Amino acid sequence: MPAYPVIGGQWGDEGKGKVVDFLAKNSDCIVRFAGGSNAGHTVINDSGEFRLHLVPSGIFASQASSIIGNGMVVDPDVLLEELAELTNRGVDTQRLYVSQRAHLIMPYHILLDQLEEERRSQGAGAIGTTGRGVGPAYTDKTSRVGVRVGDLLDKDNLKARLTQAMELKNKMITRVYEGEAISVDEVYDRCLTWRDKLEGHITDTEGIIQDTLGEGGKVLLEGAQGTLLDLDHGTYPYVTSSWPSVGGACIGMGVSPNYIREITGIFKAYCTRVGRGPMPTEMLDATEELLREKAGEYGATTGRPRRLGWFDAVAGRYSVGLNGFSSLVLTRLDILDGLPSVKICVGYRTMERELDRFPADTLLLERCEPIYEEMSGWDIPTAGSTQISELPQEAVAYLKRIEELVGCSFSMVSTGPKREETIVLKQLGSDGL
Ligand code: IMO
Ligand code: MG
Repeated sequence: MPAYPVIGGQWGDEGKGKVVDFLAKNSDCIVRFAGGSNAGHTVINDSGEFRLHLVPSGIFASQASSIIGNGMVVDPDVLLEELAELTNRGVDTQRLYVSQRAHLIMPYHILLDQLEEERRSQGAGAIGTTGRGVGPAYTDKTSRVGVRVGDLLDKDNLKARLTQAMELKNKMITRVYEGEAISVDEVYDRCLTWRDKLEGHITDTEGIIQDTLGEGGKVLLEGAQGTLLDLDHGTYPYVTSSWPSVGGACIGMGVSPNYIREITGIFKAYCTRVGRGPMPTEMLDATEELLREKAGEYGATTGRPRRLGWFDAVAGRYSVGLNGFSSLVLTRLDILDGLPSVKICVGYRTMERELDRFPADTLLLERCEPIYEEMSGWDIPTAGSTQISELPQEAVAYLKRIEELVGCSFSMVSTGPKREETIVLKQLGSDGL
């Protein structure tokens, strides 16, 4: 009966793909509910190593359905490429369903994303989006000129919707941004190709999820992005255009909050951020370089180097409060192996005052200096550990201190990218998800 959300607690890239893959074996349905191909979820399991942008990381669980929920924006070219790769590598994708209500990312959205970023970079500054057309597609959704996945199935309606939307888009592209107009007919033809290839996957996914829950099945909700990129609760305007925090899950898949059970927050043992916007604990030193190379902290979607910072417990506590996490998963602990000391940010300081809460004012956050607590590092590697008893006591002390500071305890600790490199402290779900 329950739905278990897995939510990014920081600025994305926390390791949600690995955790969902780990939990998927006992689920009946795995659902992505927000974002689009701006996400990059890495999964390493018996089938190989995969980078998924749209397909849920539970696709490897053959007993479960995988769902691209109504809250997502879908670029069919990316989806088809992903499906082809999975199929070529022997993964069954027949049980992948796409909501009729999800919105399409069109070629003009991708162009507008890039043009708008260029424009911003000449003025107040670019956001550093992934350039996948995600923001413009959500903008059209709320302006009620979006084209939905279900529209692909009705040729006449599709043509009418495209014509209506593209008249305005082409005026923007040519008159505001001085770009080149996109042909309606070309986009329409592309839509028909998408329809031919995807028709078998497009359905009323909200019904499938509700039936699964009604029949006592378990639904795993795979968050994308992270709480601090949330359109409302993140570091606006340096955010994404959807709601990655748990509040977005019910709307983004079409299910009542009554079904939501244990909410799991995923945190990296340090912070990372791609794109612009404040990150108070950003290292900007040799340790950042060292850890970036060791961990391969480059964007799975864009290849951009990620910015690295120490664990920010002020932001962590904010994220715990906002999502009501019942437990946390700490990932990439092994990356901190061998450092002489590790730091945790326990407060912020500005010229005028000290803060122990994550501020709503992004300009204020930009001026915040972190107040650190420094702890001993550890020489004995945690990499590959599967039991808490294998961890050096300094690493255990680090975990305990984070738990105290953010006000929530760990149910899992990840000590490497592979599925088995995981310490389970508490089974999720009383019935053992
Ligand atoms: P996963 O699911 C990290 C960031 C972008 C940019 C901002 C807005 O892999 O954790 P957008 O293209 O969404 O309009 O860009 O959001 N961003 C992510 N950062 N992980 C992600 O997803 C992200 N999805 C978007 O870098 O700063
Ligand atoms: Mg990612």
